[in-house]
Amino acid sequence: MLRVGFLQFEPVFGDVTGNLARIEAALEPARGRADLLVLPELATTGYNFTSREELAGLAEPVPDGPSTRRLVALAGHLGAHLVVGLAEGAAEGRLYNSAALLAPAGWIGTYRKVHLYDREKLTFEPGDLGFPVHDLSGPVSARVGMMVCFDWRFPEAARRLALAGADVIAHPSNLVGPWCPAAMITRCLENRVFAVTANRTGAEDRGGHRLAFTGRSQVVDPDGVVRAAADESEERLEIVEIDLEAARKKSINANNDLFGDRHPEYY
Ligand code: ACM
Repeated sequence: MLRVGFLQFEPVFGDVTGNLARIEAALEPARGRADLLVLPELATTGYNFTSREELAGLAEPVPDGPSTRRLVALAGHLGAHLVVGLAEGAAEGRLYNSAALLAPAGWIGTYRKVHLYDREKLTFEPGDLGFPVHDLSGPVSARVGMMVCFDWRFPEAARRLALAGADVIAHPSNLVGPWCPAAMITRCLENRVFAVTANRTGAEDRGGHRLAFTGRSQVVDPDGVVRAAADESEERLEIVEIDLEAARKKSINANNDLFGDRHPEYY
């Protein structure tokens, strides 16, 4: 059994210190009650950057930047793993829309968003780390993969994570359209995995571009059942208990196994 959940909230653009304080306060009720909590994409900075220079001013190294260090301390305080969307400033000025998996004892791994959405292409580099799957530290041997927001539109992302053994897909998001919650049910059904989509709420109107974020964060199980969900606009912390064995059994009846029945020679 693994206790997984999401925090849906409204980051304030550019207010990294304030956003970290908001996250700490909002997650306090989860202390001692969760194993893995997923936060939105770009949860510390906000989303709607107007230029690469603006992004470079807010991006930080991962895991050695101050925000990641503070979030690792939070994971230790909560006794939970966190997956958090962060603006990552890497070597040679490269900028990534990243998600970090943080254990109570420290950083475990980073995913860099591969499928950049719309104007993200003006500010971020596409991810260069593939779709790694990580073992959670601690008593429960869960395997966690990450993808970020628009990656949902590419079924190969979830498939790749599932084929690499992910039990749970952690999915920090800043969704601006209506279709992802339904699509993630399909991603879970076709791969028999759990998915935790943590979306944000609110709107950002910057540089003449207004984006309204759609909330509806959710936890979906391998049978496509939505185990927890938020509405479009509320701040919400949800935690549910999941049985990882459900994700390790890819058969759906006596004669069909979702991975065994694949025919990659025809794809
Ligand atoms: C998105 O990928 N943030 C829409």
